[in-house]
Amino acid sequence: MSVSVRGTRSRARFGSLIMWVGAAAVGMMLATTAFADQAGLPYGRLAVPEEVAAWDIDIRPDGAGLPAGSASASDGEELFYERCAVCHGEFGEGVDRWPVLMGGFDTLTEDRPEKTVGSYWPYTSTLWDYIHRAMPFGEAQSLTDEEVYAVSLYVLYLNDLVELDTVYDQKSFAAIEMPNANGFFMPDPRPDTPVAEPCMQDCDAPSEVIGKARILDVTPDQDEGEAVVVD
Ligand code: HEC
Repeated sequence: MSVSVRGTRSRARFGSLIMWVGAAAVGMMLATTAFADQAGLPYGRLAVPEEVAAWDIDIRPDGAGLPAGSASASDGEELFYERCAVCHGEFGEGVDRWPVLMGGFDTLTEDRPEKTVGSYWPYTSTLWDYIHRAMPFGEAQSLTDEEVYAVSLYVLYLNDLVELDTVYDQKSFAAIEMPNANGFFMPDPRPDTPVAEPCMQDCDAPSEVIGKARILDVTPDQDEGEAVVVD
């Protein structure tokens, strides 16, 4: 009895599957004829200008892509307290383990470099790009362009890189020199970084594991972590 019930059910399911596949095939044929000519592709449709603009938000190191706008660091002060300080701290010092946004100057060659906007980031345009696309964390892209200028300048102010009341527009903002601007260079001089043409076939070079490095306690509290090598 239970067997025949199961059989009936699965036949019913199979029937509806056939109908579904048929409907999907007809839908795809319609879609193909409707859009193929437009895009030169057999599927999809052309993105409308608004969609392209929403994706096209990258800002280049020289500032290309920055929208028109102007602000001073003082315009960003309140905004920073309201939208950023809960995680990054009122001075950019970082609350708990949220990222630190200031300081760390001259630590880049130390064992534990403190990489911040001030000590590490090479371009202000990257700061604008990053805050615009990703911050506040959890509410990305909720700031206006003017607000992004203001709050970016406030982060620079926390790093003593701009005065509180100096007004910048998109050109002068991109021209602010960052301390580590010359800290990135090509070719990469590290010995394990290939400089030749990348290998594209038969690249299986012989290799041998000679040891495993394991860093214990990478989240230091009072005591610094200890590096050990395990065979
Ligand atoms: C809810 C917590 C939170 C809030 C609020 C927040 N951030 Fe962040 N922020 C983060 C986290 C987490 C990261 C690291 C994200 C990652 O690495 O993917 C980050 C990274 C950053 C960085 C890059 C730091 C670095 O050196 O890599 C900047 C700059 C920054 N935030 C600016 C801001 C600004 C400006 C605001 C306010 C408009 C803001 N954040 C609000 C959590 C927050």
